[in-house]
Amino acid sequence: MKKTGIFYGPAKGSVAKVAEIISNKFGKENCDLVLVKESSVNDLTKYDNIILGISTIGKANWNSYHKDTDWDFFINELDKTDWSKKNVAIYGLGDQFSYPDNFVDGIGWIYERLQKVNAKIVGLCETDGYEFTDSEGVKDGKFLGLPIDEDNQPELTEMRVSKWIDQLKKEGF
Ligand SMILES: Cc1cc2nc3c(=O)[nH]c(=O)nc-3n(C[C@H](O)[C@H](O)[C@H](O)COP(=O)(O)O)c2cc1C
Repeated sequence: MKKTGIFYGPAKGSVAKVAEIISNKFGKENCDLVLVKESSVNDLTKYDNIILGISTIGKANWNSYHKDTDWDFFINELDKTDWSKKNVAIYGLGDQFSYPDNFVDGIGWIYERLQKVNAKIVGLCETDGYEFTDSEGVKDGKFLGLPIDEDNQPELTEMRVSKWIDQLKKEGF
């Protein structure tokens, strides 16, 4: 099994918690946990299998030119690596009941950047089991990564991650 780089941010909170769960389920020896805040394109080049983890806290933050979120800098690094031999998958934290019109939008923002650089993106998920009205993380009826809602459905996280990892293994990881 090729080593997987789990790139995630922010460093504390639900994204970090899910990064740990993913690592445990893959097997710690098969993964490196990498904080996006402390990383650059040089770290991306080390892995053929990459998982990217993000939370959604509003597009205003995302589009800001200030380096005030962990992803502000790292999102630009995604454009700089050669994706031709890599598999990549995205997971996103969100709150479907408080932000039903923007549930896990962050998944969509990363997907859009990766699509521009022709990355092979795997790990798309069905929308069954979630309640929301709109999301930039959905295209053609599917989530463009794994949505996790630790605010409302924490009891489903382990099962969702396990199922997703099985799927990633079938899709090339
Ligand atoms: C200020 C703020 C804005 C948020 N905006 C959204 C949003 O637009 N869509 C969404 O799905 N969740 C939104 N959330 C919920 C977070 O994404 C969710 O709580 C997530 O688990 C936080 O993960 P973290 O602790 O790793 O940052 C927001 C939370 C906060 C505090």
